[in-house]
Amino acid sequence: MTSKAQRKVRKVVFPVAGLGTRFLPATKVIPKEMLTVVDKPVIQYAVEEAVEAGIEHFVFVTGRGKGAIEDHFDLAYELEATLKARGKTAEIEILKASRPTFGAASFVRQQEPLGLGHAVWCAREIVGDEPFALVLPDMLIHGKPGCLAQMIDTYNKHGGNIVAVEEVPHEHVNRYGVVALGKSFDERTHSISGMVEKPKIEDAPSDLIISGRYILQPEIFAWLEKQKPGAGGEIQLTDSMIALLADQDFFAYRFAGTTYDCGDKIGYLAANVAYALDRPDIAPKFRPVLDKLVGK
Ligand code: UTP
Repeated sequence: MTSKAQRKVRKVVFPVAGLGTRFLPATKVIPKEMLTVVDKPVIQYAVEEAVEAGIEHFVFVTGRGKGAIEDHFDLAYELEATLKARGKTAEIEILKASRPTFGAASFVRQQEPLGLGHAVWCAREIVGDEPFALVLPDMLIHGKPGCLAQMIDTYNKHGGNIVAVEEVPHEHVNRYGVVALGKSFDERTHSISGMVEKPKIEDAPSDLIISGRYILQPEIFAWLEKQKPGAGGEIQLTDSMIALLADQDFFAYRFAGTTYDCGDKIGYLAANVAYALDRPDIAPKFRPVLDKLVGK
């Protein structure tokens, strides 16, 4: 197996061009990545996870109707001027903290939502010939340190391509990309011997699913360029990773943390409760409300 010598992962790609049909009508006008968990949009958690992991450049693959994401990471000039005039310095600091430095964010359009693999391919010119992180923002992962920081640590030891994985109940494997494991390096890191996107339950090689975080080598783009539609008629990233697996190492990393699928109503509601209970400024007031609601 050959894989490029380890080069620093400087860039992250956030594919945010999906239609979010599971969350209609909320996502008719508002991008699903802008739905809030407590008081921050889902996409901001993903950016903060990448910042914590040492990422320097943020690439957003957007689509029609996703302009609010660009605005969120821009300077809100009138708002900040008004806050300044009113002496609201704490609020100004909150806005400043959520803004990438000049030139650190790029936006590219996926004109048609042809699938995750296609969205990633749309970022090829901005990523260039270097390894990159890929984060699906609607898969919110609550972990300390964050999932991407854990993965970068693993990448610095092993190189290659890294895929975050977690175990799900066997009857759910047909909804996800599923990995087959080879050699184990430690309790969290294993080589990947095979992958399949949305397999039939009886064909799944394991109960370990791909959880929305990747570190990929740039050779993936050549495979994505010629990738034919796969499961669901979409251009699937997993299919191109399977092709690249013949040439390069892929590692499955069992991260420490809890996943909330914020593209799904139940996952999104659970995320709001979990993140609220984790906030020292909110939990003491929220817990009694929650207890009352659930009849404790
Ligand atoms: P999802 O499978 O969650 O699809 O995509 P979706 O369209 O966003 O949502 P539903 O299923 O209709 O409710 C996984 C990730 O890939 C992105 C999505 O934005 C999400 O972050 N994606 C998907 C794209 O950027 N482009 C696509 O063509 C498809």
